[in-house]
Amino acid sequence: MKRAGGNEYNSNLATQHRSFDLLMKKSNAGDRCRRVSHRSLGTGDDSMNQMPQDDSPHKILKKPSTAPQAVKPAEHQSLLPSSTTGERKIEHVRLCLNEEVGASGITAGFEHYRFRHNALPELNYDDISLRTLFLGRELRTPLLISSMTGGSKATGAINDRLAEAAERRGWALGVGSVRAAVERSELAATFQVRNKAPGIPVIANIGAVQLSYGFGVDECRRAVEIAGADWLVLHLNGLQEVFQPEGNTGFADLLTRIEQVCRELSVPVGVKEVGWGIDADTASRLYSAGAAFIDVAGAGGTSWSQVEKFRSTDPVRRAAAEAFADWGIPTAECIAEVRAALPHGALIGSGGLKHGVDAAKALALGADLAGFGRNLLGPAVESEEALDHALAQVELELRTAMFGIGAPDLAALRGTPRLIRLQKQVKDY
Ligand SMILES: Cc1cc2nc3c(=O)[nH]c(=O)nc-3n(C[C@H](O)[C@H](O)[C@H](O)COP(=O)(O)O)c2cc1C
Repeated sequence: MKRAGGNEYNSNLATQHRSFDLLMKKSNAGDRCRRVSHRSLGTGDDSMNQMPQDDSPHKILKKPSTAPQAVKPAEHQSLLPSSTTGERKIEHVRLCLNEEVGASGITAGFEHYRFRHNALPELNYDDISLRTLFLGRELRTPLLISSMTGGSKATGAINDRLAEAAERRGWALGVGSVRAAVERSELAATFQVRNKAPGIPVIANIGAVQLSYGFGVDECRRAVEIAGADWLVLHLNGLQEVFQPEGNTGFADLLTRIEQVCRELSVPVGVKEVGWGIDADTASRLYSAGAAFIDVAGAGGTSWSQVEKFRSTDPVRRAAAEAFADWGIPTAECIAEVRAALPHGALIGSGGLKHGVDAAKALALGADLAGFGRNLLGPAVESEEALDHALAQVELELRTAMFGIGAPDLAALRGTPRLIRLQKQVKDY
């Protein structure tokens, strides 16, 4: 697995970038959206991804205009042309593969914990079980591919690949925000992973803030239908929206709207962050509003202020985004405090997980599932084999960590007294 931030990862960026373009070409050949042509990635001439630039509340559900796009007299615009909803995802994927978009000056916090080795585990490695129950569904592993892609042919092809791999290995799968397909039905195929992943839980995704901009229960229901999903997750990404050239920052009264969606949807609805974390107080408000699960998506991995910094041409916003490179609550901290305050809430630990030992620590701290985002993106665009290797490696690391502490199953891992919080080194001057 080529991990973000590692040398091996960096040396493979060029390969992955080429692989993404190749994937793009392949997906054109298999054109599932034949009504639109897609000439090349990021050129801005992709009619499939053209959307009105106007994201104001009353116009958001408007049909796309065929008229030439008027340049919005926006405060700042994307570096790449025609940065519309579907195409924005391609920019995000490109930046996440090619630029330093990791948080800096902050970590996910797992290095503050260490497992105390057990030399006599009294169990057979082969008997270790990763099986778990989450929201009443049985999973072969307690692992999740975090919400990332969809919305264009290239990113739809990534979803297909993620879905096939998740199905083979028994991981749960989140798709990226389905908003683009709710607004433009011709993009639906890029989120339809159910036929590739019939046996695992699939999670549809919508930005919670869209509930302030014309989206409601019907649009959320539609997102679930499009993805053939078992659950829906609403993402909270306030700071990203501030730095995003086309961001929506109306976060007032969102909890009531989230509550309504939780109440009226027939599937469980969860809430996640995107890399800045959810603390115990926020988790408590969300569970009380009816959230079926929380994914803390904490800090220390992908930083969305860093990603958006690369997309903005506004020098003020670019500079300001830099100040948030170390923003957020470290993932390990989020999991520990949410679990301590809310012992029974369904909880996903994600954000900056690098390997299966981090996943083991997330689970030992109290997460029910452990999620991986950007670290799987490179392997996913590289090849089916690279992605399979990455998932297998995480499982091997998790299983071996369990062997190393003598935990035969996840109940034993979660209750282990062998997770030690390292003391902070205080220098004596
Ligand atoms: C390319 C990319 C696209 C993403 N798109 C979404 C999205 O559409 N919806 C969402 O909730 N999170 C999205 N995320 C955030 C991830 O789900 C995850 O919460 C975040 O990247 C932190 O995890 P990581 O540090 O393991 O990457 C995206 C992440 C990446 C790398």
